[in-house]
Amino acid sequence: MYLHGTAKKNVQGHLEIGGCDTTQLAKQFGTPLYIMDEANIRKQMRKLKKACDQTTIPYRTAYASKAFNTLAMCRIVEEEGYFLDVVSGGELYTAVQAGFPADRIYFHGNNKSLEELKEAINYGVRYVVVDNMIELTMLEEVASEMGKMVPVLFRITPGVEAHTHNFVQTGQEDSKFGFDLSSGQADVAVQYILGSSSLILKGFHSHIGSQIFDAEAFAVAINRLVELIHRCEREYSFFPDVLNIGGGFGIRYTEQDTPQPIEIIIKGISSIIEKAFSQRCPEIWLEPGRWIVGESGTTLYTVGTMKEIPGIRKYIAVDGGIADNPRPAIYDAKYEAMLANRANEEATDLVSVAGKCCESGDMLIWDVTLPLVQKGDLLAISCTGAYNYSMASNYNRLPKPAVVLVQNGRAEVIVERETYEDIVKKDKIPSRLLKQTVNHL
Ligand code: LLP
Repeated sequence: MYLHGTAKKNVQGHLEIGGCDTTQLAKQFGTPLYIMDEANIRKQMRKLKKACDQTTIPYRTAYASKAFNTLAMCRIVEEEGYFLDVVSGGELYTAVQAGFPADRIYFHGNNKSLEELKEAINYGVRYVVVDNMIELTMLEEVASEMGKMVPVLFRITPGVEAHTHNFVQTGQEDSKFGFDLSSGQADVAVQYILGSSSLILKGFHSHIGSQIFDAEAFAVAINRLVELIHRCEREYSFFPDVLNIGGGFGIRYTEQDTPQPIEIIIKGISSIIEKAFSQRCPEIWLEPGRWIVGESGTTLYTVGTMKEIPGIRKYIAVDGGIADNPRPAIYDAKYEAMLANRANEEATDLVSVAGKCCESGDMLIWDVTLPLVQKGDLLAISCTGAYNYSMASNYNRLPKPAVVLVQNGRAEVIVERETYEDIVKKDKIPSRLLKQTVNHL
């Protein structure tokens, strides 16, 4: 397993993260356990800012909180001077509860409810990123009812879908998100909002995909947006303050993943922007999620049972699985692993890591070489910082694991482990189903 951030093998031959011995973490907090490396999260944030500062482009960095959103994470994001992208009332509420300044929050989503729009206006978020015409008219109505002037970005579908080194120009913008360009939806929306007395257009947004390894795919999207911007300038005398080009920077989950260093990607994007906006340039917003937190998360499991099918495969089962990390099942995502309690031992045994859920698809890793695994070993899976905790479920009524933040030898719980009581807390039994004292049988 590649050691990201502060992860290292210590003198006891254990995996250590943030100066904390993971075998101690397992004892203290139990498993499965999400471990977040605070120094590395901050390092990523600073690295991106520095890469931006080394260009002539006016960048603004934001964090896409869907990747990993908790109260403590919001505090870190604020301290690092980032803006925050939220996509639901729940994410917004988390940010507000963390005391995150509303004027640094902006609100995405393709189907925001009336209540969510009202909440966003009440909190005074910086922008609502309007996704479609129905939302636009709904927002206009509530803004005017509330007597507020609401600043807006439009989400545009530029017809580019990007993933790793590949991207497709879909031409037909077949996506549930945003105003499409080719059918003229975006222009209609611009003309509409420019006549509004309660909404004010501040700019455009596009997000072309995730786990993108180089700048190339951004070029096509940016160029399409630039055409729209030039048209807006020419025809409607509107020039945006902000052009948000989304997130999507890729990380190294396994050695097959070879993202370019962020400095190179930012340089690439910057030269595209420079060419596109030779006269005046809007503020360019970046909103990565995965790239900020992905490599900073490690999940620690305890190995339980094992099953060997001679000549076929050896399964080792851990105490978590699809409920705490659905990504292998949903996206066929690949991960690396190691034994945290025997970090220096030679890896000789080819095994597959199964979860404990009642589903054949609950496999965390197919084929990984580890030291000869024994019941009770601690298995660490790296790069689980993004879209693991945030996508966790209670499938099979498994309580969600705790999240600990580690730094400088300190481990602090930022999300408590769920209990069985939590699992049934919201359940109700209709009175007719209450357990009767009379036995009818
Ligand atoms: N901005 C917008 C508008 C987005 O839709 C997303 C991700 C991001 C920013 C952040 O993208 P990132 O930098 O994290 O790639 N659950 C999937 C990822 C879904 C991403 C959805 N949108 C996964 O586990 O891979």
